[in-house]
Amino acid sequence: MSIRSATEAYEKIPTVIFADSAKAARTLAEEVKSIIEARNRAGKAAVLGMATGSTPVPFYRELIRLHKEEGVSFKNVITFNLDEYYGLGADHPESYAKFMAEQLFDHIDIPKENINIPSGTVPGDQVFAHCRQYEEKIESVGGIDLQILGIGRTGHIGFNEPGSSRDSLTRRITLDRVTRQDAASDFRGEQNVPHFAITMGVGTILRAKKLVLMAWGENKAAMVAKAVEGPMTEVVSASFLQDHADARFFIDSGASRELTRIKLPWLVGPTSWTPRETRRAMVWQAFKTQRPVLKLVDEHYNENGLSDLLSEQGPAYQLNIRIFNQLQHTITGWPGGKPDEDDTYRPERARPYPKRCLVFSPEPQDAVVGMSGTIDRLVEQGHDVHLIALTSGSLRVPDSEAGKFAGTLLELASNTSRPDAWAPQVDYAREALALLEAKGEFGEDPPLLRQLKGLILRGELRDAAHTAGLADDRVTFLDLPFYEQGRYRRFKSTQADIDALSRLLTEYKPHQIYTTGDAADPSSVAGICFRLLVAALQACAGEEFAGSCSVWLYRGKERPLEPHEIDMAVPLSPLQLERKENALSRYGALSSLEKEAPEASRENARLYDALGLAEYEAIESFQRWRRA
Ligand code: GLP
Repeated sequence: MSIRSATEAYEKIPTVIFADSAKAARTLAEEVKSIIEARNRAGKAAVLGMATGSTPVPFYRELIRLHKEEGVSFKNVITFNLDEYYGLGADHPESYAKFMAEQLFDHIDIPKENINIPSGTVPGDQVFAHCRQYEEKIESVGGIDLQILGIGRTGHIGFNEPGSSRDSLTRRITLDRVTRQDAASDFRGEQNVPHFAITMGVGTILRAKKLVLMAWGENKAAMVAKAVEGPMTEVVSASFLQDHADARFFIDSGASRELTRIKLPWLVGPTSWTPRETRRAMVWQAFKTQRPVLKLVDEHYNENGLSDLLSEQGPAYQLNIRIFNQLQHTITGWPGGKPDEDDTYRPERARPYPKRCLVFSPEPQDAVVGMSGTIDRLVEQGHDVHLIALTSGSLRVPDSEAGKFAGTLLELASNTSRPDAWAPQVDYAREALALLEAKGEFGEDPPLLRQLKGLILRGELRDAAHTAGLADDRVTFLDLPFYEQGRYRRFKSTQADIDALSRLLTEYKPHQIYTTGDAADPSSVAGICFRLLVAALQACAGEEFAGSCSVWLYRGKERPLEPHEIDMAVPLSPLQLERKENALSRYGALSSLEKEAPEASRENARLYDALGLAEYEAIESFQRWRRA
C-alpha cells in the first residue's frame, strides 16, 4: 500500500495540513476568487456559505485584502450564513450579524440585499416558517457553491449539536453546555450566553456543492480526528462531511495532531526514527501494553508495528534503557538549574545562578493555572522571578463584578466624616455605575470600565502570586494594546505590541523565559501573545541575553503535554499542590478547564509512574522552545 492510500485508509475526508492558518486562509481566498470569477463569467452570481467564530477571521481578512488590493468585487456574490444566536438582534455586539458586518461585509462591496443571515429575533411562532424560507431562498439562487465551516468543541458544524441527524434542515436548536462554555468569554460569563440558536441543518450544509472546514490549534485536534477518521455519527456532526463528494478539511499543524498519520505515523508508512518519534512510539507502546518502558520485550515491538524501530535501534533491552534514561532526565526539582552540580543530563543549565526568570501570562490567570508550583520552586531556590501579565483580561470580568466594586467604593466614600476629601471617589463610583447602566449587559465597555475591570483582575493576580511566593513588585501588568482595543475572536495585533514586549525584554535581560500559546488557536489571546513574543525575541536577536536565554513552554488552557513531548517535568509535593489549589481559588471567574489544572498535574504524575519512572503527587510539565 502506498503512503497516500495508507493515509486514506484512515482519513475519510481529504485533509490538507498547512504550516499555519495564514497560508490556509490565502489558499482558500484564492479559491473563492476563482469561483466568483468563473460564476460571474457565466453571468451568474457566486453563492457563498459563511461561518462565524475566530476560525474564519484570517480568511475574511484575506478576502478584504483581495478586494482592496486586487480589485476582487463582491457585487455579484450572494451569501448565506450558517447560524445566529436566537434572542439577539442584529445590533447586539455578539450577534453573528454584527460579527459578519465588522469582520467582512462592511469592508467589501457586497450589496446589503445579497446578505442572508438567520434572524435571531423572529417571534417564536414564526421560527418554523422563517427556517423554511431560508431553505427555499438557498434553493432559489441555485444552491451554495462553496460553504465555509469551522468546528465546535462538540464536533458541531453551524450549531448542529450532537444528536443532529444527517438530513436535518434549518431549525431552532438548544445549545450544548460545552458550546455555551466556549462562548462564555465572549458574553462575559456562561450565564449570559443564549440557550438557543437558529442553524442550517446538516442536510442543508451537505447540499452545498463544495465544503471546506477549517480548524486551527491543538484544542481542535481531537474533534478533527474524530470527524475525519471516526465513524459517521450524529454525535459528531462534522463527521457527516464524509458523505460529501467534495468536502475538504484545511487545518494547521496544531489541529492535525491527533490524526493517525501524525500521531502514530508508523501505522501509516515507513517512519524516520528521529529521537522525538522514537520517544513517542515507546511511550505509546508502554501505555498500550500497560507496561513500564523497562519491561517491553521483542513481542511487544512486533505486535505493535514497531519491528523496524527494533531492528534499527534495538536490541529491546538497550533501547528501553536509553528511552527510560531520556524520560528520567526530564524530571527535575530545580527548574532554574541546580547550582554547582553536573548539568549534563539536566533540562536546565546550572549557571548563571541565580537566574532572572520571566514568566509570561497571556491573561492574568494562565501562568498560575499552568505553572504556579514551578514559580513556587523558582522563588524558593533564590531566582529573581517576575510574573508578567501580558493583557489586562478585563473582557472576562462580568459587569456584576465591576458593579460590586463601584458600589463598595461609593458606600465607603459616602460614609466618611470628610466628605470633601472623598468627593472624587464618589464621582468615580457614580460614573462607573452610570456607565454600567447605560451600556447595557453586552455593550462595549468604555475606557473607565475597562480600567476598573482590569484593576479587579490585578488584585486577583497579586493575591494568587503571593501564594506562590511573589511579592507585589514582582508582578508586572503590561496591558498590551491589541487586547485593550479588541474583543475576543477578533483581536488584531500591531507593531506597538511587539515594541512593548521588546522593551520589556531589553530591560529585564532574562536568562529564562516561561510562556504559553504555541499550540493554541492563533487568534486566541495566548496564541497572539506567543507570536508577539517570538517577534519580540527576533527583534532583540542582536542583544547578548537573547542568544543564551532559554524559553520553556507551559500549557494553560490547552491540551496538556503528553509524556513524550515533555522536556522538563517539575514534581510538586502534596503541600505545593495544595498551594496551587489555594492560588487558583483566588480567581473569581475561572473556566471549568482552568479549575481542573491541579487534577491535570496529578494525571501527569500518574503517567510518569505508569511508565515506571517515579511516583510523585503531581507534575508540572514544560517543553523546550526550539527556535525555527
Ligand atoms: C460556533 C459557531 C460555529 C463555529 C464554532 C467554533 O459554535 N456556530 O460555526 O465553527 O463556534 O468557533 P471558533 O472558530 O471560534 O473556534
